[in-house]
Amino acid sequence: MKLLVTGSSGLLGSDIVYLAERRNISTVKVCLSQRPGFISADITTEEGIKTIRNLEWDALVHTAAWRDPNVCEKDPDKAYSINGRATGLLASLAKERNAKFLYISTDYVFPGTNPPYREVDPVKPLNIYGKAKLAGEEAVRKISDHFLILRVPALYGIRAGLAASPLIDSTLKALDSGKDWDMEDTIIKYPTYTGDVADVVLFLLGKNASGTYQFSGQEKGTRYEMALAIAEATGKSSAKIRRMPAPPEADATRPIDAHLCMDKLIELGFDSTLPSFKERVRQLWQAGLLGS
Ligand SMILES: NC(=O)c1ccc[n+]([C@@H]2O[C@H](COP(=O)([O-])OP(=O)(O)OC[C@H]3O[C@@H](n4cnc5c(N)ncnc54)[C@H](OP(=O)(O)O)[C@@H]3O)[C@@H](O)[C@H]2O)c1
Repeated sequence: MKLLVTGSSGLLGSDIVYLAERRNISTVKVCLSQRPGFISADITTEEGIKTIRNLEWDALVHTAAWRDPNVCEKDPDKAYSINGRATGLLASLAKERNAKFLYISTDYVFPGTNPPYREVDPVKPLNIYGKAKLAGEEAVRKISDHFLILRVPALYGIRAGLAASPLIDSTLKALDSGKDWDMEDTIIKYPTYTGDVADVVLFLLGKNASGTYQFSGQEKGTRYEMALAIAEATGKSSAKIRRMPAPPEADATRPIDAHLCMDKLIELGFDSTLPSFKERVRQLWQAGLLGS
């Protein structure tokens, strides 16, 4: 298999490339910026799509996206262009050459009022980000029943550098700042490690699976609760972390609890026994991968 990964400089894409290469799968790394070892292609342009068409690959994992809901809310056209339209164009390229295709989607396709959500449950995104990612899902389904969609929730990882991992990075900055820091305590997240998602991606491709699957860390927490867990795992003081009883007013609306059920993935044979969030953070910290 020659695996092309869009967004391969990003939080998730970098871990997919890392794991694939460790398993001797040859990769083609595509991102937006110019970087040594990467192919630069803007997937919102005809030229970028042509660049990808001209490359050699027989499986494509599409992670590139605008993933910040607040940014998407400010520029819906751009959000639809990259998260929706480009996804359809890439799926068409995969169909043209009879290649495998896997699109990374999000728990934000659900409204968050009636968790947990199965793959078949009705979708109703609350913000532009979720709507644009759903447009991407719809485009993929229209092009082929053989393609894969994998929904995941809030991610954290290390491969692309900590700044790419807001969940961890902003908390460590808050804990190290010595200043009072407000952390929101209403929206429930299921922090999910990008290395585990990479494992799921390669598992699904290896099984020749098709259709929609979901994968999620099983431990829940608000940003406030996660900050306390990170403080405990790293031995830092949480005294300055203040509980914020509502999300910042300027933020895009987010689902309160869009917990993804992953029974379908487990039924396919994926081993879901994973370390807890706190344990994983502790492991990363002890390995010196989260700074000092
Ligand atoms: N992060 C999360 O918490 C989360 C949660 C649920 C679902 N997801 C989904 O998971 C996937 C991966 O997210 P992530 O957090 O890894 O994203 P990320 O760290 O923000 O990385 C985005 C990647 O997309 C590339 N990119 C951006 N615009 C592009 C364009 N116009 N053309 C080509 N490439 C472009 C970037 O390239 P450059 O680095 O060169 O700019 C980068 O490699 C996304 O589909 C996202 O919707 C993420």
